[in-house]
Amino acid sequence: LFAAVEMAPRDPILGLNEQFAADPNPAKVNLGVGVYFDDEGKLPLLKCVAAAEQQLLEAKKPRGYLPIDGIAAYDKAVQGLVFGADSDAVKGGRIATVQALGGTGGLKIGADFLKRVNPAAKVLISDPSWENHRALFTNAGFEVGTYPYYDAENRGVRFDAMLAALQAAPKGTVVVLHACCHNPTGYDITPQQWTQVVEAVKSAGLVAFLDMAYQGFGEGIAEDGAVIQQFLAAGIDFFVSTSFSKSFSLYGERVGALSVVCDSADEAARVLSQLKIVIRTNYSNPPTHGAQVVATVLSTPSLRAQWEEELAGMRQRIKLMRSLLVEKLQAAGVKQDLSFIVRQKGMFSYSGLTKEQMQRLRGEFGVYGVDSGRICVAALNSRNIDAVAKAIAQVA
Ligand code: LMR
Repeated sequence: LFAAVEMAPRDPILGLNEQFAADPNPAKVNLGVGVYFDDEGKLPLLKCVAAAEQQLLEAKKPRGYLPIDGIAAYDKAVQGLVFGADSDAVKGGRIATVQALGGTGGLKIGADFLKRVNPAAKVLISDPSWENHRALFTNAGFEVGTYPYYDAENRGVRFDAMLAALQAAPKGTVVVLHACCHNPTGYDITPQQWTQVVEAVKSAGLVAFLDMAYQGFGEGIAEDGAVIQQFLAAGIDFFVSTSFSKSFSLYGERVGALSVVCDSADEAARVLSQLKIVIRTNYSNPPTHGAQVVATVLSTPSLRAQWEEELAGMRQRIKLMRSLLVEKLQAAGVKQDLSFIVRQKGMFSYSGLTKEQMQRLRGEFGVYGVDSGRICVAALNSRNIDAVAKAIAQVA
């Protein structure tokens, strides 16, 4: 049966972790996967998370099956965070929200549902996009194309070309958009440009699927989520996948959600019933722990305030690392304009380095980034940044 099974290539991002773990170089630095580490190089356990876990431990709750769509209090907390508890769509019951296995799980539930609703639709992702977007939508049965995004020459976004591609897309096309902190480039579009995108999506009859995996890592929770308000105001149906992997440092708990904004409460109830079938036929129902933690933090005012403070701390440290990286690269002799590094938002910097340069960084210096040139600046710290800057200067 398996004689003809071919060896699949390593995952372009998570595969780097395996390679990193096997590297005996004591000076190795992992800037591959999008994970935030503190200045000591440690994965943080947020204080708000530890406090919520303590409460849950003391409550000694039994572990029955969750409902197919997850913990009701969690789904409600997600809606409050993403859309605003007072928004008309939330109050009117027009949003179907389900707990998902991380942001990826949210995307997959949405993709499988879309395949049922509109099987002939094409999917457009940004060029470039998170490596898994193409694979995930392809595996859900869609033909996946791209819309222009990265402007290598000017270090930014090819906005006019992006907009033109959206305006020209056939009705019903699913457009995957990064709500904030674009992965992998770190270049976001402005609120005014978002207004034009929302208009294009609406007038061309496209289906927007917003991937929001980094809310709070760009400028702030509200700022990073502002585009959601623009889509709500446009009065169109759209999808949002949410991840708490990064913002709660709960990577391994696989805690995320999918929300589908509908026309009416009745429509949302029917959509929810279909999402539940997708979930039930994939993994039955979601796990308890991570979602309980997030629901507890978001619905307890003191813990919520603590979370916002801790998230702001992560955001500020990343910004500090960005400006420090520029300084260190300049000190190491890099002459080119590096201001793009501080203009980029979120965990990543699209360095502009080629695949060969990234491979040299890995092989000669033990500095692991993605072949696309993406490095995770959230894994830089005051101990490793000198070595990283020197290594980049050597290959640049
Ligand atoms: C990343 O892009 O590194 C993260 O979103 C982690 C992942 O699953 O790829």
